[in-house]
Amino acid sequence: MKSLSEIRQQYIKQLSEQYSLQEIDIIFYALAENYLHINKSILKLSLNELKDENDLKYILFLNALFQLKEGIPYQYVLGSTIFFGCEILVNKNVLIPRPETEELVEWILKDINNKNQKLQIIDLCSGSGCISIALAKNLPKSQIDGIDVSEKALELSQKNSVLNKVSVNYIQTNLLDSEKINTNKKYDIIVSNPPYIKKSEKRDMDERVYKFEPNEALFVTDENPLIFYKEIIKFSMMNLNEKGKIYIEINQNLSEETQELFLKYFTFVELKKDLSGNYRMIKAEAAIK
Ligand SMILES: C[S@@+](CC[C@H](N)C(=O)[O-])C[C@H]1O[C@@H](n2cnc3c(N)ncnc32)[C@H](O)[C@@H]1O
Repeated sequence: MKSLSEIRQQYIKQLSEQYSLQEIDIIFYALAENYLHINKSILKLSLNELKDENDLKYILFLNALFQLKEGIPYQYVLGSTIFFGCEILVNKNVLIPRPETEELVEWILKDINNKNQKLQIIDLCSGSGCISIALAKNLPKSQIDGIDVSEKALELSQKNSVLNKVSVNYIQTNLLDSEKINTNKKYDIIVSNPPYIKKSEKRDMDERVYKFEPNEALFVTDENPLIFYKEIIKFSMMNLNEKGKIYIEINQNLSEETQELFLKYFTFVELKKDLSGNYRMIKAEAAIK
């Protein structure tokens, strides 16, 4: 019979080569909260008292430890993560939602005074559905579409919308063929977190990201790194309302080029930093005719 404190020590011992102590604690408490259905703050206070009476949960912890040692991100091990207060199921077919993307959602919501108006919104490259679902939760009257090229990602985003009790219309389509996308709508908001990492930037990345997360969600070619933004602009020219706005997540190393690209087509283009101080988002409005 192990105490939770002993299991935590085992995690620290086994994972300290791969993770800092702070990271191990984030992972350990996320797993413990999920397996034991006890709030993190209570867990932290009662580590020594909590015992796994019949070691059933211990098997779960051991199984997770085995996967973590392989380098599998803990969100995949758990099968879910929290994004903007919504539980989002994740698996190897979707990118793990990032805190920077929560900031993009926050920016959109801050700009909307009346959350009960009926807006038409589309999330291009919707992945797990995190952006579209967080928006749907907070804008209950709006109609939200999501598109992605990956059938498996769409399957999961559909499940996520059911889990979060919202309705999002997910469509499988290729954004790089944007002229053929016909939703027969004019959108008030177009939001996107497309693939934007140059292949050559792989060498600076944490190996766990490109080894386990879907590469088609991450990378673009070095020759045409803004390819998705060019298509987003093309799509917007046809499908954005006159007073509509675009919100996009961007590559911090390409912020100037991305801003310049949008300035060719829009009157107002705002570049915004994320909480880590990196230029991470752009808002564009008033298309130049
Ligand atoms: C960076 S991920 C973003 C996922 C999600 N929106 C998020 O913020 O976590 C990019 C997404 O673009 C999708 N994607 C890649 N190429 C695409 C294409 N040609 N057309 C549409 N979606 C594409 C991937 O399947 C992936 O889900």
